[in-house]
Amino acid sequence: MSLLTYAIAEASEGTKAELFPVSFSPLANSAWQRLADNVASLKNLTPFPAHVLRRRWQQGYATIAVARGEVVAYISCQPILFRATRQKLSEKLGIGGESLPDINVYEFLTGWTHPAWRRKNISLQLRRQLMARLCNTNHFCISVTVGMGASPVSAKLGWQVVPWSEVPYVSSMIGGPATNRAGGEPSGWQVFGHKPYEKHTPPIQGADQEWEEYCYFWVSNPPLAVELDRKLAAMMGGDLPCWRDIWQTEIRRMLIDAGWLPVIFQE
Ligand SMILES: CC(C)(COP(=O)(O)OP(=O)(O)OC[C@H]1O[C@@H](n2cnc3c(N)ncnc32)[C@H](O)[C@@H]1OP(=O)(O)O)[C@@H](O)C(=O)NCCC(=O)NCCS
Repeated sequence: MSLLTYAIAEASEGTKAELFPVSFSPLANSAWQRLADNVASLKNLTPFPAHVLRRRWQQGYATIAVARGEVVAYISCQPILFRATRQKLSEKLGIGGESLPDINVYEFLTGWTHPAWRRKNISLQLRRQLMARLCNTNHFCISVTVGMGASPVSAKLGWQVVPWSEVPYVSSMIGGPATNRAGGEPSGWQVFGHKPYEKHTPPIQGADQEWEEYCYFWVSNPPLAVELDRKLAAMMGGDLPCWRDIWQTEIRRMLIDAGWLPVIFQE
């Protein structure tokens, strides 16, 4: 799989940046470390070690923009419901793989653009490239923002905020309140002081302080998310606590071991 790497050309100050694919871009370990440090310095981004950020890119699950040997923008995705987790689920549920809905789910995470390069459509373009790579599967993408975060970019992509409780089987795959203790104390990235947003997409323009009080569940294709949720509910006989228990104890562990973290919000 080719690596999604772009160099930036900028016509003049203040204009949108144009991205050019580059086949090879030597990046020192220190450049990845600086990216990890930048991500870790922001309270609304899940921190990940440099080698995890680099590995996602090497595996074709991250798109980067580079300038002068530095990563100046990054976005990645983590397969959440896919071949490997579906296989594990079918083992744990004691059902054939064909009984599981054939819909893949990817989480977009670690969206970061260097402050000097923001508002030039770089993140938007990188996300479009990453989504195009995934587009040959029956899938949708999800993302959590803590406060405003990358919400304007998700909105530009046509994604929508869905209430967490409207698709509880799907939303609990990547996060949820710490009070959902099925399967014991949840492990993940603990976020304090943000409530789950239980309404549909609020206006982005004229955003106010209220944005910062919530965690938002963004979905690229809400009808497909609702369809998956209904199929999972039917498969589980409506036993949501059992689904959360199996997901938390078996599947999340597997994803965490692969270098991922769910978002646990402490209200
Ligand atoms: C969020 C972030 C990744 C966006 O990166 P970016 O490269 O500046 O985003 P883009 O320029 O591609 O934005 C796409 C559109 O959203 C708009 N947008 C981006 N950030 C915005 C903001 N804070 N407020 C309003 N609109 C914004 C852009 O103006 C652009 O719209 P336009 O074409 O009408 O001008 C970047 O601001 C960042 O790294 N922030 C800190 C880390 C963070 O919060 N990450 C997201 C965690 S969920």
